Amino acid sequence: MPERITVTLTLNGARRSFEVAPGRRLLDLVREDAGLIGAKEGCGAGECGACMVLLDGAPVTSCLVLAASADGHEVVTVEGLARGGALHPFQEAMVTHGGVQCGFCTPGIAVTGAAVLARGGDAADRTRLLAGNLCRCTGYAKVMEALDDAAAKETADAPA
Ligand code: FES
Ligand code: FES
Repeated sequence: MPERITVTLTLNGARRSFEVAPGRRLLDLVREDAGLIGAKEGCGAGECGACMVLLDGAPVTSCLVLAASADGHEVVTVEGLARGGALHPFQEAMVTHGGVQCGFCTPGIAVTGAAVLARGGDAADRTRLLAGNLCRCTGYAKVMEALDDAAAKETADAPA
C-alpha cells in the first residue's frame, strides 16, 4: 500500500488536491489539511452527526468516510453554505428561532438542513434526516421550527 495518495475533490466550490495517508478520514482532511474547522469530532463513531458534511449533496458522517473515497467528488462543509456572503436561509432561520445554543452540533445540523431543503423533503423526511444529528441543548423543537420556516421562505421565493 502506498504511504501517501493524492485526493482531488471539489471542496466548497474550489478544486483542491491533498496528499494523504490511505487511511485518512475525510473529517481529518477537512479540518486539518484544509483548515475548515466547522465540522466537529464528537463521537468519532458515526453516532452524533457533529462531523456531517455534504458529499455530492448528501449528508455523511465524515468521521466514517475515507478521504480517498471523496476523490473526484464534491464536498461541502458548513463554511461553504453561505450564498454571496449571506448566511444560508436555514442558518438565518436557526439564528432567528434560537436553534443555536452551545453550537457544537450546529455545523452538522446546518449542512443536513441545507440538504433537506435542497431535496424539498416532506415533514417526515425532514425528521428522518435530522435524526442523525444529536443536540444536547435545544431539544430539537427550535431546529425543526427553523427548518419549517426556511422551507416556507424557499417556497415563497421560488419562481412561479
Ligand atoms: S463525530 Fe462523526 S458521527 Fe460523531
Ligand atoms: S446547540 Fe449545543 S449540542 Fe446542539
